[in-house]
Amino acid sequence: MEQSRSRVVVITGGSRGIGRSVAFRFGEEGARIVLAHYDADDSAAQETLDTLNRRGITAEAHKVDVSSFGFVDQWFKEIFKRFERVDVLINNAGITRDTLLMRMNEGDWDAVLGVNLKGVFNCTRAVIRPMIKERRGRIINISSVVGQIGNAGQANYAASKAGVMGLTKTTAREVAGRGITVNGVAPGFIDTEMTAVLSDRVKEEFLRQIPMGRMGTPDEVAEAVYWLCSEAASYITGQIIHVNGGMYM
Ligand SMILES: NC(=O)c1ccc[n+]([C@@H]2O[C@H](COP(=O)([O-])OP(=O)(O)OC[C@H]3O[C@@H](n4cnc5c(N)ncnc54)[C@H](O)[C@@H]3O)[C@@H](O)[C@H]2O)c1
Repeated sequence: MEQSRSRVVVITGGSRGIGRSVAFRFGEEGARIVLAHYDADDSAAQETLDTLNRRGITAEAHKVDVSSFGFVDQWFKEIFKRFERVDVLINNAGITRDTLLMRMNEGDWDAVLGVNLKGVFNCTRAVIRPMIKERRGRIINISSVVGQIGNAGQANYAASKAGVMGLTKTTAREVAGRGITVNGVAPGFIDTEMTAVLSDRVKEEFLRQIPMGRMGTPDEVAEAVYWLCSEAASYITGQIIHVNGGMYM
């Protein structure tokens, strides 16, 4: 990928956690960054923007619910009007609503599938035609190790993340001839707000399953994401790269 003009990079769920680390990583190359988040307040997004701006990076953040086809479509129309193109889309926004399947209600299912799977469709749908026209682009979908191996208490989440893998491979096949690569990154157990809420017992159980014996950091995920978007990964598409300390091999 041509690096001479600064890339326009859209990151969903970019206010904190993995999305924030991905934004910082792209900031290092001087990319122009547009973040979406859906936090109750703007403080995390503002902190991310302040850090990027201090480093001289052009960045903005918007509150957008990725599960809404209409809002996402409108948001991308604005982005294309102002930035003219999107070079990289990182579908990272994700939520959990964990409970055993026998207790899971329709709302738990719909909410998680809506953000984690339909959100990826919505954003990808919005960028794909313009990317095809440009005959270039990189799309990264953040899945999860749980989409591969399952996890008791996460039927909705595991289904959404397995769905992301199928969506990634299908999108990759559809646009491979148009200069666009589409890959998935499946993190294992990463130290963010999403995992901070887990009980010590659940954390210990996870750690027992990880050969490297520790949680991953958001930066370790961001490195894999960034590399897949680099020229070095030009012949890689339709792959799911696992970043999990050996939790799944
Ligand atoms: N933390 C982990 O251990 C782990 C493991 C595997 C996969 N993942 C995946 O990585 C991604 C990032 O996770 P994280 O740990 O950084 O989470 P996090 O909770 O720290 O951040 C989630 C981000 O998603 C945004 N978001 C939530 N709902 C949204 C919506 N409806 N529309 C737009 N944005 C929305 C939030 O505002 C926030 O910016 C998620 O897709 C998650 O499923 C995380």
